This record gives sequence, structure tokens and C-alpha cells, in this order.
Amino acid sequence: MLNKALEKTRRLSPNTTMSNFAELKTELTAQIQAANDLEKLEQARVHVLGKKGKLTEQMKTLGSMDAETRKTAGPALNAIKEEITALIKTQEDGLKRQAMAEKLSKETIDITLPIRQEKKGAIHPISRTIEEMLTIFADMGFEVREGPDIEDEWHNFDALNIPEHHPAREMQDTFFMPSDENGKKYVLRTQTSGVQIRTMMNEKPPIRVVVPGRVYRSDYDMTHTPMFHQMEGLVIDKATHMGHLKGTLKAFCEAFFEVDELPIRFRPSFFPFTEPSAEVDIGCSRKDGGLKIGAGDDWLEILGCGMVHPNVLRNCGIDPDEYQGFAFGMGVDRLAMLKFGIPDLRTMFESDTRWLSHYGFDPLDPPSTSKKKS
Ligand code: DAH
Repeated sequence: MLNKALEKTRRLSPNTTMSNFAELKTELTAQIQAANDLEKLEQARVHVLGKKGKLTEQMKTLGSMDAETRKTAGPALNAIKEEITALIKTQEDGLKRQAMAEKLSKETIDITLPIRQEKKGAIHPISRTIEEMLTIFADMGFEVREGPDIEDEWHNFDALNIPEHHPAREMQDTFFMPSDENGKKYVLRTQTSGVQIRTMMNEKPPIRVVVPGRVYRSDYDMTHTPMFHQMEGLVIDKATHMGHLKGTLKAFCEAFFEVDELPIRFRPSFFPFTEPSAEVDIGCSRKDGGLKIGAGDDWLEILGCGMVHPNVLRNCGIDPDEYQGFAFGMGVDRLAMLKFGIPDLRTMFESDTRWLSHYGFDPLDPPSTSKKKS
């Protein structure tokens, strides 16, 4: 076929060649224009410009033409090639636009369709409780401090006026950790009270801090788990007295339980790091197995507190004749159980997502305690 074409061209005079080219151009143009989708256009392109395409074959004949004929045929063929290439591009753009318009007209989005509900996370009641407690204390001017879960014995016991062999060390079923290379002894902290020491050693009074955190004791039943949460409070200033302690805790309990005029009672107690020490009960009523916080005929113990022991101040380099203060410690988990009616503490830490979706909180719903009363 190639030979035949060559033969034909060789025999042609320049004029005949030109009129053949005009025919060729008309024919190829018609082929390109007839392609009414992108696939057909590509086929037409290969048919014209491909390795064995019609125009390509014609270009190959240039080499065997006599010089005279080639002089006119060369530029003419190149011009056809350029025009055809441009035509293909225009045709392609048009077809693409058309295809897109067709796609858009078919693809409609039904905005009335309800969305498929994604699985939603929830805030754990403990996180929510800590958030609520901190909001209340922050309103009273307290700052937040934290300390390590693995604590040395000095911070956890000695500095808090709990010497070795003191029964208070055994009272808290401590998890002991290996000593370090210098023989320094460590425990999983049994109370957040150690952070009182860290704060007083590092900061100058006046001090007004709360310390949320995990604590550990070897215990396990409906109201005890080996890991639980406490929040410690510490206020040190020149003229701090028991009245400030009572006022602070009463205001906290009323805000936390959202009860105005909550009955509150301070019972004398003992803690090595406070003198005097007290346990705090709030009023409640128990009826038909249910518990209601507020005025009632019963009491519920919720925290321990007292005036910071002079020995503790001295251990931290603070002069007890110049400064005094109060401290308190409460169980976050117990407060959460009371406020949200969770009967078994152990379920809090089983990581059951069904439990969490029942007792958890919507992350977008602000804590009730942060909604200011007007
Ligand atoms: N650390 C005590 C405990 O774990 C709680 C406590 C009681 C903390 C009295 C205090 C306090 O700061 O003054 O049982």
C-alpha cells in the first residue's frame, strides 16, 4: 500500500499533488469532525496521525519525491498536519465540555436525604467531673498543679509528716516500686497530697492551687479500684484560717451539686499533715434505695481537710509563724458516682464503649456548672 502511494505521488505533477492534498485535507477534516465522542476522536487521531496514519504515510512519501515536487508538497503537508492537529484539539475540548455538561446534568445531589449518623465519641464522666471541679475552683482563683504518678516516698509520705513505721503508711495499701541506684524509694502515689509539697518547695506564698490526678492503692470492690482520682487543694497565706476553709468547701459543694444552702458538717478527724483535721459531710436523704443530695435527715462523707500542719510547712522551708494555710483532698470518682448516679466504680475503668455512650457526655454540651446563674 505504501509502495502504491509512493508510486502515485512520484508520478504526480506539483499541481496534481496540491489538488490531491486539498482532497486529503477535506477527507481527514470530515473524519475528525465526525467523531462524536472522545473514544471515536482518539480512533480518528490514530487513523490520521498515528504511526500508520493517513497523513503520516503521506509525509513518508516526501523523501522519494523529486526536489521540485517536494518543495511545494513539504510545506503543504506540514500545514495540513498543523491544521488537523489544531482541529483535533478543538474537537477534543468541545467533546470534553460536552461530556462534563452531560455528567453534571445527570449527577444531582439529593440534599433532602438524611445523613448517615457517624459513631460519636463521648466525654468520660471522670473527665467531665474534673472539668466541672476545675471550673468551680478556677472561679475562686485557684490555679492547677500536677505531679508525677510515680512519686518518691519523701514527697508521698515523709514530707507530709508521715514518718516511716507510722501506721498511716500501712493504712493506704501502697504499691511499692523498685528503688533507684542511689537507694531512693518510690511508690505509685497513694494520694495527690505529695503535690502540696512540690508546690510549696517551688513557689512562694501566697499559694492557691488545686491538683487533679490519678492515685493508686491495692484495693478492689464496688467502691474501690486500684487506680482512682483525687483532687487536692492547698491555700497558703499570712492570715488563712479555718473559716476560709469552711467557706471555700461549702461554696464548692453547693456549686458542684447545684444545690443552694447545702447543709454541710465538719467532723473532727485525723490526718498526719493537717492540724486540726476534719472530715466533711453533706446533707442528703435516702429514700426507696435512692440518694438525694441536699437537705435531708442523713449525712454523706465526701472529703478530708484541715489546717496545714506546721511540720509540713517547715519541711518545705515555709515559716509556720509567718504563714499558715489549709488543705483538702477529695475523691473525684466518688463525686462523679454521686452526681451522675453511677452505682459501681469498677465499670468506670472497663473501657466498655456501651457504658460510655450511656454515662458519657456530648463533647459540645458545656458542663452544667459552667452555665452561670443569672
Ligand atoms: N490525702 C488524703 C487521702 O488520700 C486526703 C486528704 C485529707 C487530703 C486531708 C488533704 C487533707 O489535703 O488536708 O485520704
